[in-house]
Amino acid sequence: MPAPKTFHVKSFGCQMNVYDGERMAELMTADGLTLADANAADLVVLNTCHIREKATEKVYSDIGRLRKHARQHGREPMIAVAGCVAQAEGAEIIARAKVDVVVGPQAYHTLPALVRQAAAGAPALDTDLLALTKFDQLPTRRRVGPSAFLTVQEGCDKFCTYCVVPYTRGAEVSRAFDAIVEEARALVDAGAREITLLGQNVNAWADGTRGLHDLIRTLDRLPGLHRIRYTTSHPNDLTQGLIDAHRDVESLMPFLHLPVQAGSDRVLRAMNRSHTRDSYLRLLDRIRAARPDIALSGDFIVGFPGETEAEFAETLSLVDAVGYAQAFSFKYSPRPGTPAATMADQVAPEVMDDRLQRLQTALNRDQQGFNAATLGRSCTVLIERRGKLPGQMLGKSPWLQSVHLLTDAQVGDLVEVELVQAGPNSLSGLERISQAA
Ligand code: SAH
Ligand code: SF4
Ligand code: F3S
Repeated sequence: MPAPKTFHVKSFGCQMNVYDGERMAELMTADGLTLADANAADLVVLNTCHIREKATEKVYSDIGRLRKHARQHGREPMIAVAGCVAQAEGAEIIARAKVDVVVGPQAYHTLPALVRQAAAGAPALDTDLLALTKFDQLPTRRRVGPSAFLTVQEGCDKFCTYCVVPYTRGAEVSRAFDAIVEEARALVDAGAREITLLGQNVNAWADGTRGLHDLIRTLDRLPGLHRIRYTTSHPNDLTQGLIDAHRDVESLMPFLHLPVQAGSDRVLRAMNRSHTRDSYLRLLDRIRAARPDIALSGDFIVGFPGETEAEFAETLSLVDAVGYAQAFSFKYSPRPGTPAATMADQVAPEVMDDRLQRLQTALNRDQQGFNAATLGRSCTVLIERRGKLPGQMLGKSPWLQSVHLLTDAQVGDLVEVELVQAGPNSLSGLERISQAA
């Protein structure tokens, strides 16, 4: 197979995968390849997610579809599988799908070398979990959109009984303070106005005695950086320092994604979540006391093994008690190698369907309620891209709502708007005074 000249990276899964996908693209560009469409590229990198069975199976159907399309056009692209499926399944993917390269989420700095090896005729694999070595070997960030991701923490030590992340991403590790500040500076130089700090447990980030709130307070002083966000947080790592930062730091946006998964203490214990319903609710009380307008977001799993109707009802009542601005909810998916996969009393699929539907009805109701409650408020919107209509631009409110508005402002501008209309998934804003960012 000849060495590829063009490439395409397709990322699935969480924001950390999006970040990794961007870094892989930068790496291949620095190696002399040019970006192309998935159906035309010599090299296609599928940056995969293993979190639920559906996500994993998608990889294999995608590979099939890519191959079929290429064959019809007389081409044979090199296929690389990266990300969490690569880590979990390793050489199995080469055996099952005859792909050329398999590279794990902590090893992708070796992608150019693996591609060369594959071009020379041998399938290439690197699934080392040596934490953090990749960051030193990636090129500097050069061009990014107004809202950029920055991974500061990797891996997870929590071992929730349903979850593959501790196995696919390895142990919790934090990048060094100075390296993060340097990358943030490069991102601002490359066009970022907002940075979202990423980690599987981002609030577990630490460097010596410094915690995430210290990092946020430092980035707050970075000229040209107007907004800071962070995700995903674990309730047990949410410190008073971080809560105080929500009170004091103006550039820290009033939004918190704090997954709870379930509302029953029995289920939370079986999930190994190490927080209770009550400790979670009390934590939210403290955050709301510090930042009353904070928008809350969460993740939920329905149908964890053994979940009864009464226990599911406790999830619904927790949702009622919190009033989430938005949330993600999933049917439990048994994952190979996790303790929950072999637990007794797996819940029937139709019961899960029913519970998911009822939960989503409640979450949608609350999302619309939250959006409606923000009507009439004035706030800044960071313009992220053009809308479909002439003169229409799309951006985000401080509470992470999508806002569309008619404006002369450009991508990257911060515009002062009044929120005037709420749909199910977005709002419209009326420009007040436009200001250059
Ligand atoms: N580190 C984050 C979440 C990472 S995974 C945290 O703990 O909050 C994102 C979400 O996927 C989880 O919050 C959970 O809701 C969901 N998830 C993880 N494993 C799952 C499984 N086996 N089945 C269904 N949903 C799952
Ligand atoms: Fe998975 Fe739990 Fe770790 Fe989140 S905290 S990544 S759900 S093991
Ligand atoms: Fe998926 Fe891996 Fe992220 S399993 S959710 S891509 S950490």
